[in-house]
Amino acid sequence: MIKLDNVTKIFGRGKDSLTALDHVSMNVEEGSYLGLSGRSGSGKTTLLNVISGLERATAGNINVDGINVQSATDGRLAAFRNKTIGFVFQSFHLNDWETALENTVLPLLLTRTSRSEREKLAADVLNRLGLSDKIDSRVGTLSTGQCQRVALARALVTKPKILLADEPTANIDSEAENEALNIIDELHAGGMTIVLVSHDPKVLERVPRTITIEKGRIVKY
Ligand SMILES: Nc1ncnc2c1ncn2[C@@H]1O[C@H](COP(=O)(O)OP(=O)(O)OP(=O)(O)O)[C@@H](O)[C@H]1O
Ligand SMILES: [Mg+2]
Repeated sequence: MIKLDNVTKIFGRGKDSLTALDHVSMNVEEGSYLGLSGRSGSGKTTLLNVISGLERATAGNINVDGINVQSATDGRLAAFRNKTIGFVFQSFHLNDWETALENTVLPLLLTRTSRSEREKLAADVLNRLGLSDKIDSRVGTLSTGQCQRVALARALVTKPKILLADEPTANIDSEAENEALNIIDELHAGGMTIVLVSHDPKVLERVPRTITIEKGRIVKY
C-alpha cells in the first residue's frame, strides 16, 4: 500500500543543508497498523509529508496505493490526497474562525456529496469523538484537546483508505486518548491502513508493530 525505496529528503543547500530522511526504505502492507517513533527532529513528520506528497522527496521512489508520488503532478497529488489519505497534522491546521463542523466538512467540499449529507457525515464523526456539544462552536474557542479531535474528525470524514496521524493524541487527556485510540483500532479492524506517529510508549503499546527512526534513518524495523 505504501512503498518507499531509498527515500532521501534534504532541506536547504550546501553547508546549511539538513538531511531529514536518509535513504529510507519501508513497506506498509494494505490494512496494517504501523507505529512510528523517534526523538524530536528525527524525521517523523517529514516522512508522513513525503508519503502524502505534501513535501517532495529529494531522491528515491514512493508508491502509495498505485500512485507514483514522486512523479505525479501537483493536481494529481491533490486529488489523491483528498480521496485516499486522511492526515492528522501535528499542529492541527484548523481554521479558528470556522466552527468544528465547518472545519470537518472541508475535505468533503471536493467530493460529490450534497450539503446535507456532508454535514451529517461530519456531525457523525464529531459525535463519535465526543464533540457533540461543540459542533457549532468556533474552533478558536475550543481547548487544545478538542481541536485535536476536530483535526482527527476532519481526517476521517472522507473515510480514507490510509490514515497518517502525527501525534494524534499528544494534547488530550487519557480518557479522550483512549477514545481516539479505540476509534483508530476500529478503523484498523475495518481494513484501513494506518501510520501513527507517537513517542508515547503507552500509545505505541497498543500498536501491533512500531518502527523507530533516528536522524532520518530507520533503526528498528
Ligand atoms: N521546512 C524545513 N526546512 C528546513 N528544515 C526542516 C524543515 N522541516 C523539517 N526540517 C528539519 O528536519 C528534521 C526533521 O524534522 P521533523 O519535523 O520531520 O521531525 P519530527 O521527528 O517530526 O520531530 P517532532 O517529534 O519534534 O515533531 C529536523 O531537524 C527539522 O529541523
Ligand atoms: Mg513532528
